[in-house]
Amino acid sequence: MTRSRWGRRPAARGRVGLALTCAAVVAALVGCSVARPAVDASQPGDDASAAASTPPASSTEVPPQPRVDVGYPMPRLGPEEAPGLVARLAAMAAPEFTVVARWATPPGASVLGDALDTRFAEMVRGYAEEHGHEWSPGVDIAPGGVGAPCARHPLTEPVGASLTVDCAIVTATGTLLGERLVVIRRDGATATAVDRATWYADAATGEFGDGAALYRPGAEARVLALLAEGLRSAGLAGSADPFAGFTPEGVRRILADTVVTADDIVVQVPLIATPDGRGRGIVAVLVPARLVAPFLSPFGVAVQAAVSGAAPYAPATAPTGADRVDCTLVACVSITFDDGPSRHTEALIDALRDLRAPATFFLQGVNVEDHPDVVGRLVAEEHGLGNHTWGHPYLTKLPDPEVRAEIERTQEGIEAAAEVQATSLRPPYGDVDQRVRDLAGLPIVLWDVDTDDWQEPGSDVVAERAISWSSRGSIVLMHDTHEETVAAVPGIIDGLRDRGFTLATVSDQFGGVLPGSGTLVSHGPR
Ligand code: NI
Repeated sequence: MTRSRWGRRPAARGRVGLALTCAAVVAALVGCSVARPAVDASQPGDDASAAASTPPASSTEVPPQPRVDVGYPMPRLGPEEAPGLVARLAAMAAPEFTVVARWATPPGASVLGDALDTRFAEMVRGYAEEHGHEWSPGVDIAPGGVGAPCARHPLTEPVGASLTVDCAIVTATGTLLGERLVVIRRDGATATAVDRATWYADAATGEFGDGAALYRPGAEARVLALLAEGLRSAGLAGSADPFAGFTPEGVRRILADTVVTADDIVVQVPLIATPDGRGRGIVAVLVPARLVAPFLSPFGVAVQAAVSGAAPYAPATAPTGADRVDCTLVACVSITFDDGPSRHTEALIDALRDLRAPATFFLQGVNVEDHPDVVGRLVAEEHGLGNHTWGHPYLTKLPDPEVRAEIERTQEGIEAAAEVQATSLRPPYGDVDQRVRDLAGLPIVLWDVDTDDWQEPGSDVVAERAISWSSRGSIVLMHDTHEETVAAVPGIIDGLRDRGFTLATVSDQFGGVLPGSGTLVSHGPR
């Protein structure tokens, strides 16, 4: 099921009954704050497009009015309804503070992903600096780790100062994604939501923006008037304008958290608001879509139409290794596989694809020759590729020409198989000296976590070592020539993510560009 949860939320059906009662019994009741009966497009037999174009009201119904819904259930779509997203977790623990920031991005390159990554990178770095620390992402901090994107995670105990970013997918329909992000700052006993915004992005048009972008420039005052009407109908505002004296930024801040549903726009308004748009205690004000329609921007009209249409979500797709990750922002780890490709490598690539986890493969030339198609798949799915020599010798024991030949012949084999070149060398047995480094013509990638999986200690032991011995920036050594290693990989990925790690290629750990030829690394930047 991929349709937006909005269409079939039980609460929506509950309101239908309430609305009908209201319309039938108290049509003349002044201030009846219930709108026209909502059309539940997902009821069996309903046609979503027909529902969307149904005339909104008949003359016997109560005219739609803005209204307050105390305890309004904010939508939070699960991975079944919003599949294919990538989870982000930036966490840091210091003596003075804790940061747990979660958001979700579409896979691969996307304007929304870039915007959110940039926004939260600035936010968490600024917060750490404010407390006299440089940002340094950690693991074992956030319960739930890097789990399903925007899943509901257990809250950490309020210990000292903290910054928390909580995300929720509020809509996923057609090519449109809506993500609500709430930033909570806690200082001692006081917790304040310092920023609330719901972001929308249309993968088809590349357009994106927060809730404030849904409205026509200059129409903000009209929208605020509708919100004020909703507050007044619930007795939450006097006759005066509750938004008088608000700064333009304050207005923008309130409108930024607009959630679009099939029938309404829902704006979270602070009950005790300050002119900068912040405040305490929020209440949801629902404004019927047709009342707000004249004030929507073209982007807002498109978002409203998409949400009303309730088309199945068509997530963007991208190769497994194409997700951009900033390993100075989140805690990365690289799993690496030597000696392949082998007859087990395809199963490994399948598992990595299903879990959307990039890896780095150090290929042995003689096996490349036997499995050229597998090399092609590794390239197509954008995993990292390294050179592991042709015949797996101790390079320090070979004369110069043979060292060069071992490396060059393997480069040629990889190029013949997949028209690319490996970008690093892993010498067999980690056997390297200054002479080999000078001859390599490539950066040298070793490891800091050795699972000794080649001794076949069992999948559970391999997994336990890979998970528990990793730290931020680790490069984990394994071999895709062993079936029990391949069998251990899904558990390893889950276990690393539970601790809060983001899987990245070795190259990703260095911002996409490995250090220069002859440089030796055994882990990423820490
Ligand atoms: Ni090897």
